[in-house]
Amino acid sequence: MTEAWSARTIVVGVDGSSQSRHAATLAATLARAAGAKLHLMTVVRPPEGWWGIVGSPPTPTALSKTLTDAQREILDAVVSQVDLDGVDYETIEDIGDPARVLIDYCESVSADMLIVGKRGAGFIERLVLGSVANRLAHDAPCPLLLVP
Ligand SMILES: Nc1ncnc2c1ncn2[C@@H]1O[C@H](COP(=O)(O)OP(=O)(O)OP(=O)(O)O)[C@@H](O)[C@H]1O
Ligand SMILES: [Mg+2]
Repeated sequence: MTEAWSARTIVVGVDGSSQSRHAATLAATLARAAGAKLHLMTVVRPPEGWWGIVGSPPTPTALSKTLTDAQREILDAVVSQVDLDGVDYETIEDIGDPARVLIDYCESVSADMLIVGKRGAGFIERLVLGSVANRLAHDAPCPLLLVP
């Protein structure tokens, strides 16, 4: 990173957890202050078995409506709970491996920062970092902010 850094594009990963809501709250405050575009993204992980046979992700129509409805609810909830006044934002839904999809998306929009919770909606309390946060800490293509 030789050129001056500026926050024009901020991506936040949203999974319905309180940590990801905290991440979105922080991201909205930063985006407002910096005049950045905020991308609120949720990724549905397809049920086990989708990938093995054909090796390509399911189309949204093939994916169970329950899953895509849940995804919409997660985004609606965060948009209603987080103060987005004066923030230029959009919501994005995608399907696949969450860390991989977030990484690819950050690359595609040349994100200046990715913000996620340290943990998420998973059940495993013993992890210091959730597995998505952990993979992003290794492979994020831009500065990463982990929010407790
Ligand atoms: N499916 C997802 N879509 C978008 N963002 C996500 C998704 N899953 C996780 N994140 C982001 O990553 C953060 C950390 O979640 P992570 O999944 O790593 O922890 P966890 O759910 O506690 O653990 P695990 O999923 O390994 O059981 C979340 O707070 C959220 O910001
Ligand atoms: Mg998780």
